[in-house]
Amino acid sequence: MAIAIWSSRFETGISIIDTQHKALFAAVNKLADSFKAGTSGNQVKESLAFLVKHAAEHFSTEEKYMQEMNYPKLTSHMAEHAQMFRMAQELQTNLAEGKPITMEVTIFLADYLQNHINQVDMGYVDFVKEKNRK
Ligand SMILES: [Fe+2]
Ligand SMILES: [Fe+2]
Repeated sequence: MAIAIWSSRFETGISIIDTQHKALFAAVNKLADSFKAGTSGNQVKESLAFLVKHAAEHFSTEEKYMQEMNYPKLTSHMAEHAQMFRMAQELQTNLAEGKPITMEVTIFLADYLQNHINQVDMGYVDFVKEKNRK
């Protein structure tokens, strides 16, 4: 079941960022799909590890980009990334301790990601556009 559906409203126009965002969408959808095989099985573990890997890669690319652009809201943006990353890591810890994770938590993560792209990421996109106009 796709819980994150890509649409043009998520497009930043920055090719590497859009590619990584799409990979994150695919990762949360893969995680949602893995629930079919049970909530505490290996497929969930693997999908979650896949999501954490892509999130780490993406956050680091984005933070580097914002640094290069001298984006003034870098610190608060990084705090949001750290929070999302913590949420995903907490799920990993829970799973490792034998506590199954739920579909609700996965949907929450997917929603958080989509809101982050749509609102927080678009902040630096507007900033870059404005900067290029000058
Ligand atoms: Fe992003
Ligand atoms: Fe971001």
